Amino acid sequence: MDKIVFATNNPNKLAEISAMLKGKFEVISLETLGCTEEIPETADTLEGNASLKAQYIFKKYKVNCFADDTGLEIEALNNEPGVYSARYASEAKDATENMKKVLRKMKGISNRKANFRTVISLILNGQEILFEGSVKGTIREEMCGKEGFGYDPIFEPEGYTLTFAELSRDEKNNISHRGRAVQKLIEFLNHHTS
Ligand code: IMP
Repeated sequence: MDKIVFATNNPNKLAEISAMLKGKFEVISLETLGCTEEIPETADTLEGNASLKAQYIFKKYKVNCFADDTGLEIEALNNEPGVYSARYASEAKDATENMKKVLRKMKGISNRKANFRTVISLILNGQEILFEGSVKGTIREEMCGKEGFGYDPIFEPEGYTLTFAELSRDEKNNISHRGRAVQKLIEFLNHHTS
């Protein structure tokens, strides 16, 4: 079976994608690849960071690989936190602190529109292709729900009255930014590989 490296050490993401590519690709993590160093994420766009990560792995290991980058883009905050979503409040990458900062900045603002966006960079046989998935929604006034991670408790996807943190994992994956980007990646791999 063909192998493909996913430039992540997040076991949830790895399990999700492995299941979707079952029988087609063996998905290898950075740890299994033996890549222990921190891969630079110094670009100022999601596209740039996804690409940096995938290119880094390709140049060093010469393998087929893909990498993802995600951000929450809030219209009234000029698309902040965007590419800085993980470290919005501080280098500690603390999800609760990040949400508190968003809620503070959004106090009194009536335009609550936001968008979660994921970009995946795939390098297959030396060629790079980008895939994007996004989901529109609104920012709640306060945190609600215990599922998921990151900004899930303050994000209500369009067409729902619950936050991502109040939906089951399957319900969220079906409509989420990452779910949609991964779906495009899988379709591409299923059509462009033997
Ligand atoms: P990453 O690029 O997947 O590591 O995501 C960067 C940051 O975006 C994470 O640290 C979270 O703060 C946020 N984030 C990414 N995906 C989600 C999600 O599905 N729900 C909530 N927050 C997310």
